[in-house]
Amino acid sequence: AVGAGVGAAIGIATALGVQRAPEGSGAAVTAGSREAEPFGGDTLPCHGPHQAGIVTAPAAHVRYVAYALREGVDRAALTRLFRILTGDVEGLTAGVAPLADSEPELAERPSKLTVTVGVGPGLVARAGATAPGWLAPLPAFERDRLDGAHDGGDLLILIQADDPLPLAHAARMIDRELRSFVTPLWSQQGFRQARGSEADGTTMRNLMGQIDGTVNPDPSESGFEELVWIGEDGPAWLRGGSALVLRRIRMELDTWDQIGRVAREQTIGRRLSNGSPLTAPPEAEEHTPIDFEAKDAKGLPVIPSFAHARRAHSEDPSERIFRRGANYDEGGESGLLFACYQRNPLRQFVPIQRRLDELDLLNEWVTHTGSAVFAILPGFEPGELIGAALLE
Ligand code: HEM
Repeated sequence: AVGAGVGAAIGIATALGVQRAPEGSGAAVTAGSREAEPFGGDTLPCHGPHQAGIVTAPAAHVRYVAYALREGVDRAALTRLFRILTGDVEGLTAGVAPLADSEPELAERPSKLTVTVGVGPGLVARAGATAPGWLAPLPAFERDRLDGAHDGGDLLILIQADDPLPLAHAARMIDRELRSFVTPLWSQQGFRQARGSEADGTTMRNLMGQIDGTVNPDPSESGFEELVWIGEDGPAWLRGGSALVLRRIRMELDTWDQIGRVAREQTIGRRLSNGSPLTAPPEAEEHTPIDFEAKDAKGLPVIPSFAHARRAHSEDPSERIFRRGANYDEGGESGLLFACYQRNPLRQFVPIQRRLDELDLLNEWVTHTGSAVFAILPGFEPGELIGAALLE
């Protein structure tokens, strides 16, 4: 009778949608029995030599908002804009609502909110400074199908958080405060797996199902500085900053689904299950290096000539980029908000993208529809303004 009772209870639990734990974990996970500590109160510091949100652990939610400067916004107005923005960033990232916030409760649980500020060539010109040559629309690529809806801008506000609520609130507060200086151009919302769904630090999966971001320079590796942070060779106002390339890339998931798993794995050169390279045994670890020279029994390359990983791979270590993508899925369209940071997009992103544009089997299912380049301003310390060096 006891057994029947338990069975009935499990039946009810299943009907209520309560999930069982995987085999071997010993117990059914009932709602609430394994609740993680709430992390809404977690904050990330906004101050430092570099802005937050670039090498800080990627958040579950991201929003890029681009603005155009209103006519007549001059250098003095830009200083006011950056003063307001700096106060908002310092407050919102710490969970403190700006003074004029009529819904301050929405700011209280920032969930590692970060706000990262970038500028386009138009803003640099208004500040009376000189923009680096790369701060311009990227050269056109043969396969680009830019629809004009997500290109360029004068000011970029990149907001990230593990909870979409404080993110939406921060975006609205900043938008409201900046409206007398700027008009909105476009906004793009993206996501990764929810925090807690996988161990922190797990490489994300994109909507094609691939583990995406395995081969990426590590912020702790020597040489990362030279790849990502702008140094002595850049303009003084940008030292400690970076260059962001943001591409909106649509995916054709209906046709992607139609090809078999072997073909899908060959398209990249890595396995869908765990991201391991096709040149290593299936159980090999995700970060096992690919052997681009490996041949199969017939003498053919194991990683096909058209595989994305082969085409994207740079032999020149100074040509690498720091990728930080996010998925999007809205209005019946899915894809990747491909974002990468580097010192100079013309020497890093562009040669890689030229190779992919020329040959990459992935092109059968992906199309670049938006393109933007922003100069990500250097970090700032308490008492300093974001963009201080630009306005000096
Ligand atoms: C590697 C997916 C676009 C640059 C990879 C990998 C996947 C992937 C699954 C293998 C795992 C990894 O190392 O992350 C995609 C998808 C794209 C896309 C689905 C479009 C929707 C791009 C673009 C670029 C790029 C536009 C740059 C122009 C790279 C680089 C690697 C890579 C540098 C590492 C290559 C190496 O092994 O050295 N990508 N990618 N990807 N991708 Fe992409």
